[in-house]
Amino acid sequence: MKPVVVSTETPLRDAVAAARRQGKTIGFVPTMGALHPGHVSLINAARAADGFVVASIFVNPTQFGPKEDLARYPRPLERDLEMCAAAGADLVFTPEPATMYPPGFQTSINVSELSTVLEGATRPGHFQGVATVVLKLFNLVQPDRAYFGQKDAQQLRVVQQMLRDLNAPVEVVVQPTVREPDGLALSSRNKHLDADQRREAVVLNRALEEAEAAIRAGERDAAVIERRMADRIAATPGAVLDYAAAVDAETLKPVTSLRGTVLLALAVTFGATRLIDNRVVQC
Ligand code: PAJ
Repeated sequence: MKPVVVSTETPLRDAVAAARRQGKTIGFVPTMGALHPGHVSLINAARAADGFVVASIFVNPTQFGPKEDLARYPRPLERDLEMCAAAGADLVFTPEPATMYPPGFQTSINVSELSTVLEGATRPGHFQGVATVVLKLFNLVQPDRAYFGQKDAQQLRVVQQMLRDLNAPVEVVVQPTVREPDGLALSSRNKHLDADQRREAVVLNRALEEAEAAIRAGERDAAVIERRMADRIAATPGAVLDYAAAVDAETLKPVTSLRGTVLLALAVTFGATRLIDNRVVQC
């Protein structure tokens, strides 16, 4: 069945209220569109657990920096709606920027410490934009469960921390990163890679794989693991390292010696295209 498509608050609230009256739980998948099988895996997970599945498609301007790719971010709406339909979404929320940020808008959510490291170090304001729009979407949809991808590990931590700190009654469900057959994590940005860059981009997953293998073999020195990943990227034609990190998976803070749950995270630029990937490892 085709999902209902709404772009304003009242019909969204009415549809969710009607589903609630039927005793259905609400599952919510926030996206920026340009959907791929990674997004579809989230909708599938919601479909399996919840009675009413809402997806949102909103390219959120406030999470893009002035030099980032807001203008060139793909917006294939018709195709996205077909994918939502095929995955079994009941409703797709497609607000306009002016609906989310009307004149006079002035409030934002800042998850202070988690937002300044890793991605936050090169993308100031990014997670403030993410946290604010996610909380707004949660307040509009009021889901029981919201589905996020492990692909954006730091975003996930920021959202979880915000929900905990602000007592928001939403359960976050995490889905594993969906990858191309060669291991490259699916991303709407992959289409900007030329053939050479696309071939070399597999190095993110390889470097993470090798780092995980080294940890499994007993290496516990975070600096050694980070160096190993960085060297692998440095040896790759066309790849420019932004960061290679082995950090505490909860705080995202650096550690000297690896223990507990560790996040291995990479950001690498190919030309104008910045890719991220990560892996969680138990020590
Ligand atoms: P977007 O990049 O469209 O991602 C939407 C969701 O899909 C996120 O939870 C993301 O982690 C997940 N996702 C992306 N690629 C994935 C992959 N290869 N495997 C599994 N899941 C994947 O993340 C955002 O949008 C925005 O920041 C948003 C949360 C919607 C706020 O604007």
